[in-house]
Amino acid sequence: MDDSTLNESGTDRQLGRSPTPPLDNSDQSSDQSTDWRWPFWPIVPLYPYGNRRTLRTEVVKDTLWTFDQIQGIFYVTVPIRMTVVRLAAGGLLVYAPIAPTRECLRRLQELEAQYGEVKYIILPTVSGIEHKVFVGPFARQFRAAQVCVAPHQWSFPLNLPLSWLGLPPGRTHPLPDDPQDAPFADEFDYAVLGPINLGVGPFEEVAFFHRRSRTLLITDSIVSIPAEPPPVVQLDPFPLLFHARDRATDAIEDTPANRRKGWQRMALFAFYFSPGALEVPPWGEVLREAQKVGDRTRRNYFGLYPFRWKPGWQESFAALRGEGRLLVAPILQTLILNRAPQETLDWAAKVASWDFHRILPCHLDAPLAADSRQFRRAFAFLEKPVSGSEAIAPLPDADLELLKRLDGGFSRIKILPASKERI
Ligand SMILES: [Fe+2]
Repeated sequence: MDDSTLNESGTDRQLGRSPTPPLDNSDQSSDQSTDWRWPFWPIVPLYPYGNRRTLRTEVVKDTLWTFDQIQGIFYVTVPIRMTVVRLAAGGLLVYAPIAPTRECLRRLQELEAQYGEVKYIILPTVSGIEHKVFVGPFARQFRAAQVCVAPHQWSFPLNLPLSWLGLPPGRTHPLPDDPQDAPFADEFDYAVLGPINLGVGPFEEVAFFHRRSRTLLITDSIVSIPAEPPPVVQLDPFPLLFHARDRATDAIEDTPANRRKGWQRMALFAFYFSPGALEVPPWGEVLREAQKVGDRTRRNYFGLYPFRWKPGWQESFAALRGEGRLLVAPILQTLILNRAPQETLDWAAKVASWDFHRILPCHLDAPLAADSRQFRRAFAFLEKPVSGSEAIAPLPDADLELLKRLDGGFSRIKILPASKERI
């Protein structure tokens, strides 16, 4: 990039905000209560509600950055991530924005000052409410940016126009059908998975391929689960230690082993909701135990801990993680992508035709050193096993039980269309 372009873009902000001096991620001098504040949390009331910390990581020097926050329910917290790409012609592209807290904005403004302003904001999903919710407030902070959204957007219970959902009119556009027609076609290719009809509204996400860095940007369809808690989850270890207990009354020391134990249980909750190794004791017992807990504050759920982990839960985690292999989340395997196996496999083949060596998903671990063969293999659950092909260990039936019950139940009462045969 030409230096004059960089300087011009960096100072000609047109954003209605004053330039902010650069701050390092470790900086603790600012007022955290306002720095992490996210006032719109009641719209999608996920933990950590009105307080969100942001961790920025430079993935490829001067080219690619990830911004991680966390989200969760009942202290089951996982990373949610946006990716920022420096454009060759100057400026930045933001894929899947996160909550624009002051801290998040400051870290992005630091990049703008160096590399040029945010030119494009991509909403790559129609169904991922946890991503959609941030795009309107985020776009309002970057008034010169074009907002490009996955086609077939919808809302529930009313199908409202995008401007009613906070997306800026006049500069919000669906991604063109042909990626060659996109304003960033010289640097990116993309492929739309869906729309997959789910009754209430379709599932759809858009994979982006950044050619220069050979990086695939993915929203929800692919994850990899780390054995250790991701750094952003460790910024506040309380949820990890909460789940590391075997009994409500256990005093848990903040050690790496306990953080790891809590994380692995959180991952089982996050992917299965009700993993096979989990027992919920009778509520009478839970209430009696709660009386003996020292910390009965709201933060500790008043001492309530309705979980018992059976021996062997670690094997369940090991099967889910599969040594960090690329994984299509069980909920997508059992309730969503099996409604459109051929369309999903066609999309996976298209994505696998790109020559990437790195994947940045919007959740869990990143960056992933992975290529197109590994990506394509993650979708083998949609295919009939062929003798001689690479076998993929299936996820344990005991862990999938709840999701399979939901699959059958939703299909029966026609909330979801029936699943289709493997190809
Ligand atoms: Fe998501």
